[in-house]
Amino acid sequence: DVIDAEGLLVLPGFIDTHVHFRDPGATHKEDFYTGTMAALAGGVTTILDMPNTQPPTDSLPHLTEKAAIAGSKAVVDYGFYLGATDTNIEEAATIAREVAAMKLYMGSSTGSLLVTEFSPIYRHFSTFPLEKPIVVHAEDEQSLKYFGALGLQDHNQARPPVSAQIALSRAIAIAEKTGRRLHVAHTTTQREMELIHEAKQKGVRVTCEVTPLHLFLNEEDQHRLGNFGKVNPPLRSKSDQAALWRYFNIVDTIGTDHAPHTREEKEQPYSKAPSGMTGVQTMLPLLLNAVSQGKVSLEAVIERCVVNPAEIFGLKTKGALQVGKDADIVLVNPEEEYVISNEQILSRCGWTPFAGTHIKGKIQRVFVRGNLAYDQGRVLVQPGSGKPVAYQG
Ligand code: DOR
Ligand code: ZN
Ligand code: ZN
Repeated sequence: DVIDAEGLLVLPGFIDTHVHFRDPGATHKEDFYTGTMAALAGGVTTILDMPNTQPPTDSLPHLTEKAAIAGSKAVVDYGFYLGATDTNIEEAATIAREVAAMKLYMGSSTGSLLVTEFSPIYRHFSTFPLEKPIVVHAEDEQSLKYFGALGLQDHNQARPPVSAQIALSRAIAIAEKTGRRLHVAHTTTQREMELIHEAKQKGVRVTCEVTPLHLFLNEEDQHRLGNFGKVNPPLRSKSDQAALWRYFNIVDTIGTDHAPHTREEKEQPYSKAPSGMTGVQTMLPLLLNAVSQGKVSLEAVIERCVVNPAEIFGLKTKGALQVGKDADIVLVNPEEEYVISNEQILSRCGWTPFAGTHIKGKIQRVFVRGNLAYDQGRVLVQPGSGKPVAYQG
């Protein structure tokens, strides 16, 4: 067939290395079908799913269970994170080749995965294959408790960003000592960017991610959004937000931290409402819009959403439009304008913090491995058409 792409941009499929698809365990929020449909509609043709599901993806049986679920439901290609626990150090190293990376939570979040003590962190860093990244959620449990003891509430505005710096400094120091690859999830503050910049200059093998949430929203939006803007790490000040753009040249990946929760869950009192927002469907639109505004170049976006993710996570057949790589292709009309609405959101929870945002640049068609999978609002492929990614080495 001949595809008419006159006037359209031809982009490589985006790779979102940070999604929480809730399957198994919380499929009332999302599952592998709804989550990957949202990805597809957002021009994301490959996702890496986080391990804080129920049960957590912290062992071979749990990984096998999740892989079977994804195999029957996904409509884009997928890989998994292995969750670090205090005790799965040797087992994690033996399953490393089956996963994209390890995820280590230095501070607690949705789910039960948490490793706060020096000894298990050090042992994971030195035992997990050094070439496979360990991705850290670098917020420090101990310092959060410390600030709690000072009478500060565990409240987004009251939580001092210093907690993230302490955890990040520890992670960087241990990565330097062990010579391993470290990828820092959702950096949100100027201080974190400074620490990462300094570590990179010293030759520490550290890379970092920012999210569209923290690039495009700040604490003023948190006031407007209420619980719907509650996320961990929280939306930061305007000056921290500006720092993420200022340091954009040392940002390696943009990942969404797509973390769906239902409206009912979000409408509970603040302290009970879970943290997280959707994002996998709105990343490319927001970035296209930023390109149309001259905020960033399309090349810089593709580097952080396609090229670097494939390189860092060793995704063999992904990462570019070239011979030998999968034909994951997104056709975009750069001139078409529209407004994001909750009705467009294919995630099961059905809402986005970006409802009402005016976008210039519309995703028209998406191809996964050469097959037309999405066409102007319609998902054309069946659950199970998504395939597991292959890893380098
Ligand atoms: O806000 C968050 N939500 N931060 C996380 O680290 C986890 C995520 C979730 O899974 O809900
Ligand atoms: Zn996190
Ligand atoms: Zn996350």
